[in-house]
Amino acid sequence: IFLGTRFQSLLSKLGVPSEVLEFLSKWTDAGEGYPKIPEAKGAISAIRSEAFFIPLYELYLTYGGIFRLTFGPKSFVIVSDPSIAKHILRDNSKSYSKGILAEILEFVMGTGLIPADGEVWRIRRRTIVPALHQKYVAAMISLFGEATNRLCRKLDAAAYDGEDVEMESLFSRLTLDIIGKALFNYDFDSLTYDTGIVEAVYTVLREAEDRSVAPIPVWEIPIWKDISPRQKKVNAALKLINGTLDDLIAVCKPATKKQLVRGAFMYSLTASDLIEMAPHKFVALKFLSDSLYLLMVSQRMVDEEELQFHEEYMNESDPSILHFLLASGDDVTSKQLRDDLMTMLIAGHETTAAVLTWTFYLLSKEPSVMAKLQNEVDSVLGDRFPTIEHMKKLKYTTRVINESLRLYPQPPVLIRRSTGDDILGKYPIKRGEDIFISVWNLHRSPKHWEDSDKFNPERWPLDGPNPNETNQNFSYLPFGGGPRKCVGDMFASFEAVVAVAMLVRRFNFQIALGAPPVRMTTGATIHTTEGLKMTVTRRPQPPVVPNLEMPVLKVDSSVSISEVEQV
Ligand code: HEM
Repeated sequence: IFLGTRFQSLLSKLGVPSEVLEFLSKWTDAGEGYPKIPEAKGAISAIRSEAFFIPLYELYLTYGGIFRLTFGPKSFVIVSDPSIAKHILRDNSKSYSKGILAEILEFVMGTGLIPADGEVWRIRRRTIVPALHQKYVAAMISLFGEATNRLCRKLDAAAYDGEDVEMESLFSRLTLDIIGKALFNYDFDSLTYDTGIVEAVYTVLREAEDRSVAPIPVWEIPIWKDISPRQKKVNAALKLINGTLDDLIAVCKPATKKQLVRGAFMYSLTASDLIEMAPHKFVALKFLSDSLYLLMVSQRMVDEEELQFHEEYMNESDPSILHFLLASGDDVTSKQLRDDLMTMLIAGHETTAAVLTWTFYLLSKEPSVMAKLQNEVDSVLGDRFPTIEHMKKLKYTTRVINESLRLYPQPPVLIRRSTGDDILGKYPIKRGEDIFISVWNLHRSPKHWEDSDKFNPERWPLDGPNPNETNQNFSYLPFGGGPRKCVGDMFASFEAVVAVAMLVRRFNFQIALGAPPVRMTTGATIHTTEGLKMTVTRRPQPPVVPNLEMPVLKVDSSVSISEVEQV
């Protein structure tokens, strides 16, 4: 294979077209004489099954850390070996793209950060990563607390009325409210209302998930798009969300100083002269009203910004990522910005919701872990809103999340496509191979974990480092690894810690009597098949729930919840 690859690269330098090289590569069959990837036989049902990553685990135990699944003309390489995962994700990441994932998500994420490859990805990643800087994440903690407090009030009412609650959908709403505010300062308020925009977000999400597991891409059939009621609904939902995002971007855009000055300048020139000068009064009036609007918005933002604009472009009344990107002079089209926001909306919403769902499921099965967790939260947090300082002290809570992410990784598989020939372990592969890295298998492998199926937060010592892909040598990769690692890892970890801590200090959670069994199904993340129905009871001495709305993003760590209520 090396000879073949070198020969091809020589031919390529000599200007031989890529089509000819591809033909030659197939003809010479560079992999001949090398071992072939073991082929899992009779395994079509694995991909067809509801939660397809589960039968992949059985196949892993039979065929090992790398095997091939073939059905019809399609084949997939399934990787469950940490060193091969490291090679693909980190060491030779340049030779892999997002492949099928990018194709499936294109309709909703366009060239957003998750599906993007090549230069677009490189530029956008370099711009977006600084937006999630530490100071931003620290500011977000009060947002997490405020949103979780709204959920607490909802649960308090349910506990009082003796009603069971479906936690999976509540977690989904909690994380939607958080990510909307965090990304573009928009309050979905989905914990309170079922608005059109909330329904649209769910329609698009479900569609993205269904497409990711559909055997045939019916949505690509041209007429289907126009006649299928479902596709029509999806298109309408997309239009609504895109329109809302465009409006948010448009309103936030004049916030950049250059534009503010330009806006004001435009106004001062036109206000005095334009009506007289303009041949068409309507056009003049439209221009004038636009300019006035721009000036009003600009002036409001100038006032705020004069006071609050600082080095990191953090605006305390709007610390959103959108504001940061625009204020930091991100020179990008509105379409690209919208794609990135949409990508982060999806990436940062269902993932954290799924982590919370499975954490509470696991806690309901292990009362001793729950008791230890509640002890820590009571002593560290007491009756206070969490702050960044508490994050460092809520060590066991963090371990509970680490362990929940091991047992239920979100997403359970990572998808790649080889963009050149390569060698995986001892097996050569060609360009264009579709690869699934099974994080589920890595995280549950009996080779790497003692009692691998057991929920045991104690496996991570409290005084040890926070487990990640680097210190676990790619046996544990809850946020991926290499250059495409999650940009929201710290954000999401703190979000989950705050939500878990605030909920368990106030309530006990049990699977409701007569609730349907909790089974898994897949979309982009692991869902339950029929929800997570729980009975919520107040703890014997619950902290008081405030009746007043908390001030947005301004929660003082020294103030307790009961003090806030007195205010
Ligand atoms: C990528 C997991 C929350 C934004 C990833 C990847 C994983 C992951 C495994 C790597 C995907 C791959 O290699 O194919 C999670 C989990 C989360 C979470 C488990 C919650 C517990 C978030 C949040 C945001 C976010 C809150 C945004 C604020 C992204 C983006 C990427 C990504 C933009 C793509 C990065 C790139 O390709 O350069 N996430 N994520 N994620 N995540 Fe997260």
